[in-house]
Amino acid sequence: MSDVVSIASDHAGYELKSEIKPYLETLGYKVVDQGCAAEQKCVDYPDYAVKVVEDITNKKANYGILICGTGLGMSTVANRFEGIHAVLCNNVEITKLAREHGNANVLCLGARFTANELAKDIVKQFLETEFSKESRHKKRLDKLCNITSSSKKKSTQTYNEDEVSKLARMVGEWWDENGKFKPLHMMNPIRTSYIIEKIKELKKSDLKELSLLDVGCGGGILSESMARVGINVAGIDVCKENIKVAQSHAKKVGLNIEYKHIGVEELSNDKKYDVVLLIEVVEHVDNLELFMKKAIELLKPEGLIFISTINRTIKSFCLAIIGAEYVLNWLPKGTHNWNRFLKPSEIANHLRENNVTLQNMAGMEYNVIKREWNLTQSVDVNYILCGSMNS
Ligand code: RB5
Repeated sequence: MSDVVSIASDHAGYELKSEIKPYLETLGYKVVDQGCAAEQKCVDYPDYAVKVVEDITNKKANYGILICGTGLGMSTVANRFEGIHAVLCNNVEITKLAREHGNANVLCLGARFTANELAKDIVKQFLETEFSKESRHKKRLDKLCNITSSSKKKSTQTYNEDEVSKLARMVGEWWDENGKFKPLHMMNPIRTSYIIEKIKELKKSDLKELSLLDVGCGGGILSESMARVGINVAGIDVCKENIKVAQSHAKKVGLNIEYKHIGVEELSNDKKYDVVLLIEVVEHVDNLELFMKKAIELLKPEGLIFISTINRTIKSFCLAIIGAEYVLNWLPKGTHNWNRFLKPSEIANHLRENNVTLQNMAGMEYNVIKREWNLTQSVDVNYILCGSMNS
């Protein structure tokens, strides 16, 4: 590609753009003018910044020039995009350094603060200066790129690294019924029977014909219970160590479960399931909205989703945090963060937004005398619910 410059301005930068454009052509550049036009008296600079950014991202232009009243709005917008390094320059020396040290690819100009002739000198300097390629500058630019990609990754990732590493530290204890996962082993019979009862009631088909995905399957306690009744079970978890434990335990007990180390957001939604389980997992994830959306996308029409978690109430703070972690020592201190607990109404909203109808909800309560978990009407602390995908 011979050097192509994509240029855009808002109304405040229009006049300067009209000066710069023919100037670029006299310098030998091919120019793509992305607006605005003369008759547009009041436009919004983000709309024009994006057009130039797209030209660079799609390799239709080598450089971009963005002009608004101050240059600030244009540079702010352009720098939100990965692969774009936009600089607002108001003198020739800084422009030279922006290219030599910063390898900037978009020049922003503030038309209200930069005289036309100076603007032309800045443009020429920008386009005619090469990146120095010195290792110190390359190293700094690499760091800059990493910041962009890690923040981008965060907004599309649903697992929380701290939560995952908390679980990874307990990985050796998954199948020790008296170890750190004792509460899950104690709770497992009641949640298993609730899920199976609701599947039978709502699906009315042979369990052996159903496919189920256990999201956040951990060491496989619940996945195995589901597989034992004949359901075709797959389990996924973002903690690699959990998957290894789950795979080796299933092998040991002769169960055929397809485990995979992957996050729900990374899983292809080509394969759909009759049942998706989000059991004791939603309180550990980030971007719950995305997590729920992705999980629900994996359901077949009329598929069922089961979610269990802990309500965010004063009672749950007393029982699930103070009681379970500090008094009874059921769980290591810090296992749960009360602020991450979710009210049933919050879960119900996510279901509704994703075309799922709430079918049933029940509380789960520990009976200290009988030393067992029972279903209860109160959803103040632990609860489980079931929704069905609308067809
Ligand atoms: C438009 O009046 C003005 O706000 C805009 O051109 C720019 O200066 C924003 O940064």
